[in-house]
Amino acid sequence: MESLRQFSFVSFIALLAYFAFLASAELHVRQFVIQPKPVTRLCRTHQSITVNGQFPGPTLEVRNGDSLAITVVNRARYNISIHWHGIRQLRNPWADGPEYITQCPIRPGQSYTYRFTIEDQEGTLWWHAHSRWLRATVYGALIIYPRLGSPYPFSMPKRDIPILLGEWWDRNPMDVLKQAQFTGAAANVSDAYTINGQPGDLYRCSRAGTIRFPIFPGETVQLRVINAGMNQELFFSVANHQLTVVETDSAYTKPFTTNVIMIGPGQTTNVLITANQRPGRYYMAARAYNSANAPFDNTTTTAILEYVNAPTRRGRGRGQIAPVFPVLPGFNDTATATAFTNRLRYWKRAPVPLQVDENLFFTVGLGLINCANPNNPRCQGPNGTRFAASMNNQSFVLPRSNSVMQAYYQGTPGIFTTDFPPVPPVQFDYTGNVSRGLWQPIKGTKAYKLKFKANVQIVLQDTSIVTPENHPMHLHGYQFYVVGSGFGNFNPRTDPARFNLFDPPERNTIGTPPGGWVAIRFVADNPGAWFMHCHIDSHLGWGLAMVFLVENGRGQLQSVQAPPLDLPRC
Ligand code: C2O
Repeated sequence: MESLRQFSFVSFIALLAYFAFLASAELHVRQFVIQPKPVTRLCRTHQSITVNGQFPGPTLEVRNGDSLAITVVNRARYNISIHWHGIRQLRNPWADGPEYITQCPIRPGQSYTYRFTIEDQEGTLWWHAHSRWLRATVYGALIIYPRLGSPYPFSMPKRDIPILLGEWWDRNPMDVLKQAQFTGAAANVSDAYTINGQPGDLYRCSRAGTIRFPIFPGETVQLRVINAGMNQELFFSVANHQLTVVETDSAYTKPFTTNVIMIGPGQTTNVLITANQRPGRYYMAARAYNSANAPFDNTTTTAILEYVNAPTRRGRGRGQIAPVFPVLPGFNDTATATAFTNRLRYWKRAPVPLQVDENLFFTVGLGLINCANPNNPRCQGPNGTRFAASMNNQSFVLPRSNSVMQAYYQGTPGIFTTDFPPVPPVQFDYTGNVSRGLWQPIKGTKAYKLKFKANVQIVLQDTSIVTPENHPMHLHGYQFYVVGSGFGNFNPRTDPARFNLFDPPERNTIGTPPGGWVAIRFVADNPGAWFMHCHIDSHLGWGLAMVFLVENGRGQLQSVQAPPLDLPRC
């Protein structure tokens, strides 16, 4: 009797807690109006495509468990869609956003409401346009705080600063893309990198706009660093200050300190920084980590960390003292980039799948399409070719008349095929001197089917075709564990023995080491069509992508939801 009473008391309390928790979940209703807005950078004004006239776009701040209803109203002259990068969108691919993958784009004058719930995720994510090159200016932070009363695994500073790293062209980015698509050559590199939309002191006409972050002596703040850049991995550093990494891609890590981080497009990294240096002014700076044998933007963006008690100069030349500049690694410092990435560990024991049902091996890399007439103006790539990129020799082409997800859901044939190869069609020395006959990929719209709840391992193998390179590979709808990586060709006999199945970092975007491989694992527990692609937009445009079709399970909450009624028509 006593134990029964105790039991019901306990369950009563549990029930109360449950209701409190339900009551605390919020619905965030927002409107994102896509509209041109004059933005002046590098001495010139461009009609940039923005959200609500803001550049960068608005920061969304929510809690784990909250729901969002974001109505995107398209008042620009381009088709657009918005992707909530890193949000799992469980059973709800309709809210994921990549155009022609899970939806058709929102046409000028039309709107679409993205409705989704944050389910068991917290940390730094972001949102961006997923429609050609519009994400150059259409992006913002998406910050998920833990549920009320749920603790951080580290001592969380009172202040939190989003640091959005971006890339700026002194042209309409859509024209840059158009030109590259016409010529088949590489797109022009950007003219500046930006921190929260501003290039900073080292660029023309930019000094007045340089972002400044005041900080109190002794204070610790969290920087939520997001690489929203289009095409470039970046090194980021703050002069004289150590950075303590606590989270990547909305997953906590075992904290460690470093002078510099490397962050690829699509990735996020939270670091703590303490104002424990001499009162003064310190630059934070980002510039390229360039692993490829290719032109890149070699400029440096800066913002200023300003101690509120920083001394000022007296007398003649009165005013603020010059900020201290950080030491940044060389542009091609792969050793530093790799050493940084290899230090990442999940904050506790990770529930990594130990058995593998689907053992996939995907080559990723560039390629060249030969032209009948190399003097054709559309063939201005190397030696009269057009650039391409592929996974397992398949160069992905977006469908035009429907999205993959809608075609899959409705059973419409002719939009895609499900014969994406699980291994490369031809085996070769991927990172060696690859024979020219293997440089030309095949174009198509191919997906790979996965059974619900399959344990999936993918080895992503960079190739040296055209150039070895770090490819930041992003998987929609999932977080995965990065269980191993290395240089050269993956060796299926010896490498798996060295996998970290204990505390591998959890991410949604991971770079292949240039001329190397990286192995990831996840459970296919989210049905739907999920894009996997290189987050370097020029590579994505060249076809470095594929789609996973994860089948429905049998259970009640294991099937894709019905599509919303306002899903854009093609
Ligand atoms: Cu952040 Cu498919 O992208």
